[in-house]
This record gives sequence, structure tokens and C-alpha cells, in this order.
Amino acid sequence: MSLVERCLEALAAQLGRPRGRIGRMIGLALNRGNRSLVGAAIDASGATTGAAVADVGFGGGVGLELLLRRVGTPGRVHGVEVSDTMLAQARNRFGREIADGHLVLHEAPMEALPFEDGALDAIVSTNTIYFVEHLDVALAELARVLRPGGTLVLGIGDPERMASMPFTRFGFRLRPMRDVSVAMDAAGFTGSVAKQAGGGPTPSFVVVGTRS
Ligand SMILES: C[S@@+](CC[C@H](N)C(=O)[O-])C[C@H]1O[C@@H](n2cnc3c(N)ncnc32)[C@H](O)[C@@H]1O
Repeated sequence: MSLVERCLEALAAQLGRPRGRIGRMIGLALNRGNRSLVGAAIDASGATTGAAVADVGFGGGVGLELLLRRVGTPGRVHGVEVSDTMLAQARNRFGREIADGHLVLHEAPMEALPFEDGALDAIVSTNTIYFVEHLDVALAELARVLRPGGTLVLGIGDPERMASMPFTRFGFRLRPMRDVSVAMDAAGFTGSVAKQAGGGPTPSFVVVGTRS
């Protein structure tokens, strides 16, 4: 493998699970680059003041910041991550919100979430499913923890555009948008539709489904 390929592979691994000092820099870059898609996903979730919501795979934490603002002090935001580095970064950044009980961080994969059945009103998860091997398992788990009528929003970069990015050759699972909405409906969501989400470095979509 050439040096360039090794660098691309390392970047792909960092995006899939940020680690260490470089991982912390990746977290900050994700916050800048993905703010508009994350914001669009949170808007599409329809989360209201007082809601119980989660950002699954929150990375640098921009979604936690926006969700905290959206649900306010009567609400509760859960951040779910598999990366120790992203969890530590969020603990540093949101110490007050964690101490006040408005934000709860969990180390868990989206395939095995630490919530009771029907515990959440809305879930957002942006730029994460590229790293999930069994999407059906993850979607069934996301459906389990949402209440009937709750909303799941997945934020995804345009798969064709992403395929042209050289690092995505290293382990990214780029699924056609239609496959994602079909998989959501199969997992217990209704009316799952993909909508274009503006801004950001890549054309992006939110796929929104309601838990039936
Ligand atoms: C590319 S980053 C996206 C971060 C953020 N959501 C955003 O859009 O900026 C992907 C994040 O998902 C996390 N992740 C990867 N696989 C996951 C899984 N199975 N469950 C939960 N989080 C996961 C990674 O640790 C990483 O922080």
C-alpha cells in the first residue's frame, strides 16, 4: 500500500471512530463541516421543548449543543458514542449540562442502545451508518427505543458524491438513499422519505421516519 493510501485508510478509520489527539482534531473538524447537516436533521426531528432525544454517534458534539438548545431545560438529551475520545471531549465541553442532568452520555453502539423500549421521542444520527455493517439490526434497535409516533432522522452524504472521495474506499458502506428508506420502513418506521439537506461540503440528505 502506498503512503497516500495508508493516510487515506487512517483518515477513514478516524472518521469511523476518532481516537487520540488526531481524533480530537477530527471531532472539531466534524463540528465545522457537518453543522448544517446536523442542524437540518435536528429540525427534521421535530423535537420540542421537554422532549427526550438522542444523538447517536455524536462525534464532536455539535448535535448535542443544538439538541440541548432545542429541548431546553425540561428536556433531556442523550449522547451515544463508541469512541472514548469523543466521549471524553463531550464530558469536558458539556460538564455543566451533564451535572445539571440535562445531558447524559452513554458508551454504546447503535446496535445495542442503553434505553428502555419506547424511551425516546426522537433520535438523530448523522454520518454514522457508513460504519454500520448490519443496518437492519441497527434500525430495529433504533425503532425499539423510540416511542410509537417518535421520529428517527438519519443524515447521510450523497452516496455518489461520497464514492468520489478517495478515503471512502477504506471501509465506508455507501448505501443508495432508496435502500436506506426501504430498510427504515422494514424496521418499523412509516413514510420514510429522503429529503435534500442544504449546505455543507457534500450534498447531503436527511431520511426521516416515524415509529409506527
Ligand atoms: C463521521 S463521525 C460523525 C459525527 C457526527 N454525527 C457528525 O455528523 O458530525 C461518525 C461517528 O459515529 C461514531 N460511530 C461509529 N460507529 C458507531 C456505532 N455503531 N454506534 C454509535 N456510534 C458510532 C464514531 O465514533 C464517530 O464519532
